[in-house]
Amino acid sequence: MSKLKAAVFASGAGSNFQAIIEKRDLACEIALLICDKQNAGVIEIAKKHQIPTFIFSAKEFASKQAFEEKIVSELRKIEVSWIFLAGYMRIVGSTLLQAFPGKIVNIHPSFLPNFPGKDAIEQAYQAGVNTTGVTVHYIDEGIDTGPIIAQESVAIYSEDTEETLKKRIQEVEHELYPNVINQLLQQSEG
Ligand code: GAR
Repeated sequence: MSKLKAAVFASGAGSNFQAIIEKRDLACEIALLICDKQNAGVIEIAKKHQIPTFIFSAKEFASKQAFEEKIVSELRKIEVSWIFLAGYMRIVGSTLLQAFPGKIVNIHPSFLPNFPGKDAIEQAYQAGVNTTGVTVHYIDEGIDTGPIIAQESVAIYSEDTEETLKKRIQEVEHELYPNVINQLLQQSEG
């Protein structure tokens, strides 16, 4: 039986994308990378692994609805059933949410509901708290408010800099996200 197809959406360096595609027993095929930044590092990783890309520029579309309709049509063309956001720095709109109900998942670098939104690692570091974490959650209309699937905490040490903290958080992300993806796919029927 052929594997289910999934797409990863990313805007940045792509370390999570890389961790997902390099997981040896990944239960789905990553059939497409969707990227909204022409020069994002993640595009090179996709090329290296021969994963097709759809790269778009939001400002070339009249609205979020217009670019999301185009994305939905790209995803339908190749029968993608799951979407995994991995550093996709846009709020997902109703067009995508309605096209893929319960099938859009995100990773966020904090222990939600703490520190939602942008710069979550910096927010936690600046707040002076002694733990933060990583959350994998379903996407809904809010900003990092959807139902939580899995979480792991990460300690913040007094000797940490923002960079050392980021490195430890990302190590947790790279382990957690591919494992959660496999669990979700094994539980689902499509
Ligand atoms: C990751 O740390 C991810 O959790 C975060 O962006 C980074 C992307 O890094 N996502 C968010 O902040 C979403 N609100 P990567 O491009 O190296 O995977």
